Amino acid sequence: MTEAILLVGGKGTRLRPLTVHTPKPMVPAAGVPFLTHQLARARAAGVEHIVLATSYLAEVFEPYFGDGSALGLHLEYVTEEEPLGTGGAIRNVAARLHSGPDDPVLIFNGDILTGLDIEALVDTHESTGADVSLHLTKVTDPRAYGLVPTDPTGRVLAFLEKPQTPEEIVTDQINAGAYVFRRSVIDTIPAGRPVSVERETFPGLLAAGAHLQGMVDSTYWLDLGTPAAFVRGSADLVLGRAPSPAVPGRCGDRLVLPTARVAPDAKLTGGTVVGEGASVAQGARVFGSTILPGAVIEPGAVITDSLIGSHARVGERSVLTGTVVGDGAIVGADNELRDGVRVWCDARIPAGAVRFSSDQ
Ligand code: GTP
Repeated sequence: MTEAILLVGGKGTRLRPLTVHTPKPMVPAAGVPFLTHQLARARAAGVEHIVLATSYLAEVFEPYFGDGSALGLHLEYVTEEEPLGTGGAIRNVAARLHSGPDDPVLIFNGDILTGLDIEALVDTHESTGADVSLHLTKVTDPRAYGLVPTDPTGRVLAFLEKPQTPEEIVTDQINAGAYVFRRSVIDTIPAGRPVSVERETFPGLLAAGAHLQGMVDSTYWLDLGTPAAFVRGSADLVLGRAPSPAVPGRCGDRLVLPTARVAPDAKLTGGTVVGEGASVAQGARVFGSTILPGAVIEPGAVITDSLIGSHARVGERSVLTGTVVGDGAIVGADNELRDGVRVWCDARIPAGAVRFSSDQ
């Protein structure tokens, strides 16, 4: 039975302020901590033993997931005293693996939402006899990613850092953040110091002549590293576009958790989720957005593609588009917030204080 390592120790700086109090994998997506979706998908693929490599805000994982038995899993937690990076984190949990030297071990980044066929990745790894196999996905604009060109058989030819010029864009295949390592390869990663698997381990293995195999799987794939992507991913889970056995309810236009309160004439669409104890008042309209537990949306507010933090408040008639409101923040009435604005946790924006348009 294949076992897995989940990397969940990153600081999640791009997702701030959502990650000020909560590590990225614990931010709710479609009503449950995002990590739940990954754990459930791994379980559905036959994985039973998962080691979580934690660092930033490490203490919150175990109280929530415990020994994993609620998900049919055996979970273990290993915390780094100092962050060891992605490669260092993998090496640091090696002692908890039960696999033999030639067995495959799955490794997942903790912030990827994907329909990857996990069993097919393991099969590819086994049938090609690779040292490491990587899930690759094709993107239309590869400029923000590390490129992974392969030969016609899928063998990795290079790891290219973020391309700067059009000539450097030699492929549209990028590292999608899911790997299979031959167990013995994990033991070759240096212990006790920070190592980046992407920048150090993979290029080093390639230079040493190791066999790295890429598997292009063009199913749903989203890196939930930024607020806009996180909101999109949560909505796609609710809409059923992104597959997960862990969505707590039927997929559809909206997901309202049992203890949330929504006024009869409030409109929730586009994969909006309203978390536990949150409320949406009369006349409010919420499209494609995530309302975290305990947040309050006042009458007539209009919220699109935004994330409202836990116990935050959005005042009457305020219009928010592509905005993140941190935990406990208060946006007063009649504000207009747009285009990537991040309202910090516990901040207060007075009524009528911010507008992008001149009309009232
Ligand atoms: P940003 O700070 O916004 O770039 O996010 P991040 O900290 O999550 O970094 P990145 O997206 O590059 O990390 C990829 C995956 O590796 C995520 O699942 C992280 O949780 C995880 N990760 C990154 N650094 C570490 C680390 O030092 N230790 C552990 N255990 N996991 C890490």
